[in-house]
Amino acid sequence: MIDIKKVRADFPILNQKVNGKPLVYLDNAATNQKPQVVIDSIVNYYSTFNANIHRGVHTLSQLATNAYEEARIKLQHHFNAKKSYEIILTAGTTHSINIVATGFTSLLNEGDEIIVSALEHHSNIVPWQMLCERTGAILKVIPMNLEGELVMSEYDKLLSIKTKLVFVNHVSNALGTINPIKEIIDKAHNIGAAVLIDGAQSCPHIKPDLQALDVDFYVASAHKICGPTGVGILYGKEEWLNKLPPYQGGGEMIKKVTFEKTTYADLPHKFEAGTPNIAGVIAFGVAIDYMNELGFDNIASYENELLQYATKKLLQIEGLKIYGTSQHKTAVISFNIGEIHPYDIGTIIDKLGIAVRTGHHCAQPIMDFYKIPGTIRASFSFYNTFEEIDLLYDALVKAKSMLC
Ligand code: ALA
Repeated sequence: MIDIKKVRADFPILNQKVNGKPLVYLDNAATNQKPQVVIDSIVNYYSTFNANIHRGVHTLSQLATNAYEEARIKLQHHFNAKKSYEIILTAGTTHSINIVATGFTSLLNEGDEIIVSALEHHSNIVPWQMLCERTGAILKVIPMNLEGELVMSEYDKLLSIKTKLVFVNHVSNALGTINPIKEIIDKAHNIGAAVLIDGAQSCPHIKPDLQALDVDFYVASAHKICGPTGVGILYGKEEWLNKLPPYQGGGEMIKKVTFEKTTYADLPHKFEAGTPNIAGVIAFGVAIDYMNELGFDNIASYENELLQYATKKLLQIEGLKIYGTSQHKTAVISFNIGEIHPYDIGTIIDKLGIAVRTGHHCAQPIMDFYKIPGTIRASFSFYNTFEEIDLLYDALVKAKSMLC
């Protein structure tokens, strides 16, 4: 069970006024808020043991290295990777996807096919288009239906011996749809294709078991899951990570450098050139501990109650249309009211203290599918309350009356 009073007390930012009104933060799919333990971890690192890692014999460097590598092991256990070195620490989901997309340049041939879905964020479209431009591979798209779900029968038709890679998000950032990733992975494996799952939007709600999923690559960002910005993971099966070339050259990713030739470090360091976000990685580990203490089952069940309540409440507003009506959704409601531009509503309700995202949500193909410029997106977290949903409702009614 989520003890909402206790949980909210962990998040100092929630206890403030914005534009003279109590903050109602419903933009959690963009980034969620940070509990005090995560903030303390960052302050503690810089106040007491700031040093570079893997480089010094001195005490502070050892402390920093140990804390950094302990965080990697926490992440390994949380996501259930077989080996800790299959967890590559990156700057975030986009960085992780680009490591894989760039790495596949030498592994694809002209005419090979790669499949993405109609529900992708631009970060899971553009890197693959760039890969196609470099290699002559062809991008295919699993279509979506009006409910905002993938049409799986069309996926079956797209798969062939030409398919080399499949990239799908676990949860759509724009609509909240939860995609059937196990089925997607198994079907791709049946024809010998590799699969990358983008967990950026699912990781705050669903704890994945990467070995049970048997996925080849999985990517996620810390800042969606109560951790800091600028940190993420790339999980890859050992055999895949060994096949991919390094993404960036620099310090830390080498075994031996001469002017004639450089040999690369073993995993995970081959992909971790330069000084990383040490404080951020350590704080990511603290965030994972915090979330696990709350319990992902508790989080999912509370957020689902919020979703059901908010859906029912918002549909009472005449002219309000929800985009993304799958039965399998995280707590995201994307909607418009009549012909009112989402930006206008977002601006008015901000004055009432309510933070939502408006626009195309970096998912323009979804907006094109529905023939709309964008939506208003309310995305909920385990620290939101039913009272906040009532405040959202009141604010939308007010905005509608001002704009109609
Ligand atoms: N990808 C983030 C979102 O959906 C930024 O808002």
